[in-house]
Formats: sequence, C-alpha cells, structure tokens
Amino acid sequence: MRTIDTELLHGGYTPNEDGSRAVPLYQTTSYVFKSDEHASNLFGLKEFGNIYTRLGNPTTDVLEKRLAALTGGTAAVVLSSGAAAVSSSILNIASAGDNIVSTTSLYGGTYNLFKYTFKRFGIDVRFVDSSDPENYIKAADENTKAFYIETIGNPANNLDDIDRIAELAHSIGVPLIADNTVAPYIFNPFDHGADITVFSLSKYICGNGTSIGGAIVEKGGFNWNNGRFSGLSEPDESYHGLNYWDTFGSHDKALVRGVAYSIKVRLQLLRDLGACISPFNSHQIILGLETLPLRIRKHVENAKAVAEFLENHPKVAWVNYPGLKSHKDSVRAEKYFKYGAGAIIGFGVKGGLEAGKQVVNRVKLFSHLANIGDARSLIIQPSVTTHSQLSEIDKKASGISDDFIRLSIGIEETEDIINDLKQALS
Ligand SMILES: Cc1ncc(COP(=O)(O)O)c(C=O)c1O
Repeated sequence: MRTIDTELLHGGYTPNEDGSRAVPLYQTTSYVFKSDEHASNLFGLKEFGNIYTRLGNPTTDVLEKRLAALTGGTAAVVLSSGAAAVSSSILNIASAGDNIVSTTSLYGGTYNLFKYTFKRFGIDVRFVDSSDPENYIKAADENTKAFYIETIGNPANNLDDIDRIAELAHSIGVPLIADNTVAPYIFNPFDHGADITVFSLSKYICGNGTSIGGAIVEKGGFNWNNGRFSGLSEPDESYHGLNYWDTFGSHDKALVRGVAYSIKVRLQLLRDLGACISPFNSHQIILGLETLPLRIRKHVENAKAVAEFLENHPKVAWVNYPGLKSHKDSVRAEKYFKYGAGAIIGFGVKGGLEAGKQVVNRVKLFSHLANIGDARSLIIQPSVTTHSQLSEIDKKASGISDDFIRLSIGIEETEDIINDLKQALS
C-alpha cells in the first residue's frame, strides 16, 4: 500500500503508450464505440467505459481516483463546483417530503441552498446548534435522510464532535455527510464516522485559484437497504430498472462493492441535472492536488503564526482560530489535527466594522476577494459581502458578526504576511 502523498502523485494513471508522464487532458465530449455490442454494453452497464463527458471522462477519472485515495473512500464523483457537490449529495437521497438535519454554521451559499432553495423543492432542512450533538437526534424523524456538518465551519471556525454526531446518525439509520472543503488532507471525516464527504475543489485542493470544481466521496459500507432509502434499494425506472443496492451495495453479491450511492449520483444526477466539470478544470485541479500535502502544511503553519500575532496585537479586539488556546474547540483541534486546525482566521479590530474596512483597504499583499484556500493570502468582511444577503438572524446563526474579518492564510513567507497585517493595522 502506498501512502496518500504518493497516491496523490501517481494514483489512477500510469504512463500510457505515448509515454506522457503528466496525466493527459482528454478534452472531448464523447467517445467512439468499438461496435454496436460495445455501445449497448456500456449503456446497459454490462461493461464500464466512456460514453459522454457529462457522465465521465478519463482525466476526471484520475482526479476521482486520487480523491478516493485522499480519504480512503470506495469512490468519488467530481462535479462542476462545490455547490453542485453539496446539492447533489443531498438530492441523491432526499425528495419532496423528506428532511435533513444540519448545523447552522455553514458556508453562506450552503445556508441559502438549505434555507430557501431546498424549501422550494419540498426538502425541509432542520437547523440545529451543532455544538450539542444531541440536538441532531431531537430534530430527526422517520423522514430524515441525513445529518449534515462542516468539519471546520466556514467562516465560524467551529469544530463539532463529529464522532458523536455520526454515532447518532447511525442510531437512526441515516448517513452523516461532512463538507471537508476547509480541511482536506489534515482531517479525514471518514476516520470520525462520516459516510459521505463533499469538497469544493476550488479551494485548497486546486490551490492555484484557477478552477471551480466539487466532489462527493463515498466511504462505502453504509447500509442503504435499511428501509429509508427506496431510491437506492428499489429499481430505478429511469435506468432499465437498475437496483443500486443489489448491484453496487456493500455486500458480497454486489458487482462492485460499496459504491451504490456514487453510481446513483453519476447515472441519475449527472445525467439529469448535468453539473459536470470541464476536463480542463479537472486537469488544473489534478496539478493542484499533487502538491496538496506540502502546501497545506505551510498554510496551517502560517495560520498559527498569524493567529498568535493577531492575538497579541493591541488594536485587535478578538481572534477566532481553533489552534489558539483561547478557542472554544481548542481541545478538539489539538486532538484531531496533527498539522494544525486549518488556515482560516476570523478576527475583529477595535473600532468595529468601520475600522475593519480600513484594514481591508490598506493591506497590500492580501487580496480582497470572495474565496478561500488560494495559495495567496486573502481577506474579506463577510457581513458586507459573502453573507450580506442573509438576515441579521441568519448571519448570527452562521457565526458572522458585523466586525468579522475573514483571513484565508496563504503559503507566502510567514514574515511577509505578518508584516502586511502589521502595516495595515498601524
Ligand atoms: C465550505 C464550502 N463548501 C462549499 C463551497 C462551494 O464551493 P464552490 O465555490 O466550489 O461552488 C464553498 C465555497 O466557498 C465552501 O466554502
């Protein structure tokens, strides 16, 4: 067995006859069938292979294999964006009349999706305070299809008791879906009971700020045949009556074991909703993923130094970074994160929102933009940008105060990052 670091460089691809050392970019919509039998075998799932890039692509396939290796999952499906991964991870198992239970501490886009858009489709999201795992079980009922968390809340920086939330999910036969966008490589939700993990690949995994993408990864092993998930355990009329559980469930009789959920995402949701990634973006993201282990260590090393600098600065009112002893979840951060608890820092300056605006206007190295996880350091005030569409109550629930400044710490030299903040604060 090779290590994850090696797998991210070599997994899913060995140089072919052409000898290309880098993973080739297959920028094609479709694939020529070898014969009529080959074509019907592919459509009938008697053989696996390429049909059309909306359903799968050889470049994207390498990325999927490497993402499965990153987390130890049985399969990954790459989609057009992190938002597509989040929505599809739920639409794959929930329909009108169903519900999921979620933390309120979410990326703003996910909060909107859960609170407003899913409601229009009849899917009810029951928001709970996830700092007490028991709240999940109190909100669940017979129509609940999943519990949902972010491993490190963006931007609230909370680290919940994932092991306990997973235990409670399993006690009623539902999966735990964990968004691990903020902590790839440094934290593996599958080691803490999660069944499905979703990523925005647009952040640390790509890392170079060029490409939007998302992924859903399945751990394998979840029992979708427990009476709650008829979409997986009963024939799919839209696909020749395919029964995902019988053919791809986690049992000995399966054709391929433990991939039922991912096969359904690909065959139904990529086919019908069409949120496929461009092969070019997959290629860019592969290049990023190859160096993730090195980059992420530098991100967190820098973040820790910046958080300590801010905490000791006389003009700073408060700092929210789980790697600081002052953070409410610091014990969990120390226990779960051997390299450090991510590279997102929240802070407020004395003088509130207005003084914060001056800091944002005065930084020179930091880029003022709406993203996280770029190799370059980033800054934004969520209350007046990314979260400005939320009501005051919703902002509070998402952990956003008016004076909140979010930093996404990059991999520049530590000293340069600190000097930039020093001059902006002065
Ligand atoms: C935690 C988290 N999940 C999902 C997303 C959505 O990802 P994308 O922008 O790739 O659609 C984001 C984007 O910021 C995010 O921070």
